[in-house]
Amino acid sequence: LSELALLGGEKALPELPRYNPIGPEEVEAAKRVVETGLLSGYLGVWDPGFYGGENVQKLEREWAQFFGVAHAVSVNSNTSGLMAALGAIGLEPGDEVIVSPWTMCASATSILVWNAIPVFADIEEETFNLDPESIEANITPHTRAIMVTDIIGHAADLDVIMDIARRHRLKVIEDAAQAPGALYTGGRYVGTVADIGVFSLNYHKHIHTGEGGICVTNDDTLAERMQLIRNHGEAVVEAKGVEDLTNMIGFNFRMTEIEAAIGIEQLKKLEDLVARKVDAADRLSRRLEPLPGLRTPVVKPDCTHVYYTYPLVYDASVTGVNRQRIVDALRAEGVPTGAGYLNLHLQPMFQKKQAYGRNGFPWSGGLYEGNVSYAKGICPVAERLHDSDFIGLGWCLFEGTGREVDAIAEAFEKIWCHLDDLQEADGGN
Ligand SMILES: Cc1ncc(COP(=O)(O)O)c(C=O)c1O
Repeated sequence: LSELALLGGEKALPELPRYNPIGPEEVEAAKRVVETGLLSGYLGVWDPGFYGGENVQKLEREWAQFFGVAHAVSVNSNTSGLMAALGAIGLEPGDEVIVSPWTMCASATSILVWNAIPVFADIEEETFNLDPESIEANITPHTRAIMVTDIIGHAADLDVIMDIARRHRLKVIEDAAQAPGALYTGGRYVGTVADIGVFSLNYHKHIHTGEGGICVTNDDTLAERMQLIRNHGEAVVEAKGVEDLTNMIGFNFRMTEIEAAIGIEQLKKLEDLVARKVDAADRLSRRLEPLPGLRTPVVKPDCTHVYYTYPLVYDASVTGVNRQRIVDALRAEGVPTGAGYLNLHLQPMFQKKQAYGRNGFPWSGGLYEGNVSYAKGICPVAERLHDSDFIGLGWCLFEGTGREVDAIAEAFEKIWCHLDDLQEADGGN
């Protein structure tokens, strides 16, 4: 095989055109809304318009039906949805919420918004999701909830986590931003197993509306509370006769009619778009399986993976080449490659315990009675995967046609044929 692009050879891949799930149906739907001049249907008073316009309500009905849940509450982002969900469960300032270090920052910062405290538990090797044993080990008298992310497109061990939560009287919120359409055991959709699930419709995802999010729940009270938090709840609680005023400072988390109209069309395409990502991933896995030192994605029995990212676990002791060198070589070939993912507990906000103001609030200031640690070493699996073993390919960044996937496979094969060159260039480590 030809010389490595990293060492001056030709690239294995051309520039990959960006993944684009938006088609003429979405264009038409958006146009129809724009032509009405009514780009939002929300009213901030006690009125049917409190629940949004025609398209918002239609998207919610169809989303709830598709996912088989009682309620879908649309919002303007997954981040807003996580905030609404955490407010809805009645979190108190100083409560602890267990969360993964291996997730996007909003899963943890949405907890801080309610002056509650993120506690990071470790993840498991195979799906990179929260490890139930580590969750249990991190429960304290202050724990109030678990924020579980279905990271990268595969379900966390949800039944086991729900069981822990029930035993300890905790609420569970599922951050399903990266896993729309993924199945968990028993044919249940990811996002629908916990007390509340939250999806993202931002433009990096399988389906999108530019920005947006949807919360789902089977609990009538939680749905109502999320609707109130979404649209300045304080303005209507009196007229609506709401007596439980906890966390009823409302926000503006409203989705516009344009986004909702696009979302209705996108939802119709979800299964097909996901199937394409899965086919592309399976095609790549078949080619990568023979390469020593690489573990292709694990899919748990009775689950499906939707591959927001295509995850690989790399063992440098087998190849003799460190991960960064492999990632540099893949990038040089044109493969959209990431080294590691995230270790949120090590970010400056947590290391300095500084979120609001300069004095350590909400960790200090008298609300919090626990003693959470964010020291390096508290999440050894997440840290090792991030520091040395994990390689992720951005699977929602490009279409993933057969030809593109074959070219990616060729890039890997070329690099694996030239490991000697990389070892030398690496000084043999
Ligand atoms: C796991 C996870 N949580 C939350 C978010 C935030 O989503 P949004 O951009 O819709 O607020 C993302 C977005 O990338 C995500 O991947």
